[in-house]
Amino acid sequence: MDLELNGTTAVVTGASRGIGLAITRELIAQGVRVAAGARRGTAELERTGAIVIEADLTTPDGPARFIEASTTALGGIDLLVNNLGGGGDHELPATFLESTDRQWTDMFELNFFSMVRTTRAALPALLERRGAIINFSSITARIPHTSPLTYAAAKGAVSTFSKGLAEEYGPRGVRVNTISPGPVLTEQWTGPDGTGAKFAAARGVSQEQLLRDIPCEMGVTTGEFAQPRQVAALVAYLASPLAGATHGADHVIDGGAIKTV
Ligand SMILES: NC(=O)c1ccc[n+]([C@@H]2O[C@H](COP(=O)([O-])OP(=O)(O)OC[C@H]3O[C@@H](n4cnc5c(N)ncnc54)[C@H](OP(=O)(O)O)[C@@H]3O)[C@@H](O)[C@H]2O)c1
Repeated sequence: MDLELNGTTAVVTGASRGIGLAITRELIAQGVRVAAGARRGTAELERTGAIVIEADLTTPDGPARFIEASTTALGGIDLLVNNLGGGGDHELPATFLESTDRQWTDMFELNFFSMVRTTRAALPALLERRGAIINFSSITARIPHTSPLTYAAAKGAVSTFSKGLAEEYGPRGVRVNTISPGPVLTEQWTGPDGTGAKFAAARGVSQEQLLRDIPCEMGVTTGEFAQPRQVAALVAYLASPLAGATHGADHVIDGGAIKTV
């Protein structure tokens, strides 16, 4: 199927690995010119052919500088993919009572305020092109008991923000959707410093054992982690003019983990 994306432009955050890298690859394969952000570019990201822009999006002025550099490089923005997010580099609280202000603010800076600031900076360019925004939430926004509450609440804020944005800017031609993945096999789970390593250490099990347990524990009916390229395919579809009537919606990709209708 021709997704009619050839010749368009996109900005992707959190693009150096995991889901963001897969999105960058997929969009470029569809003929999209991509400005790809991360704190540090990687050889893998360079190989995609994306324009790599290094920026820390958790700083107050990082998103505006990142979007300015992206707009200059691309000449305009048709699509913004706010993929950046996750558990972050710090320790995760085991219980709400143990959670500190610092853990709450760090989680919201990474998952929510970076998105608010990046979107605010990119919106004028998106309005000009009647573009689209895809924001990354998580199934934990709907089933918060499956992750640290700091993360689930930040993703809940992402979902609410995105729905409100869809209402406000849909009439002016900007389409807004969210994607809510269940567990996706990225370095968040497999890396030595990611959420998977922290969960395994907290439980006193090996990371391999944790990876075997997680799909079942989260009620994933297929029994498997999703793959980043499967999420990237959904991004490409939502970006396409063929999804022109798909707006203000949350797209769950979780192997059946959410059990309610
Ligand atoms: N993986 C899952 O199971 C899962 C499930 C549900 C939802 N999600 C959501 O899907 C999205 C992608 O997840 P992922 O697993 O692919 O993440 P990941 O593998 O941890 O990748 C994170 C990306 O963000 C960049 N990054 C981190 N901190 C940054 C900062 N301060 N400023 C700019 N860039 C930064 C990283 O590069 P640098 O370190 O070089 O900056 C990297 O490119 C996130 O929003 C996550 O919450 C993931």
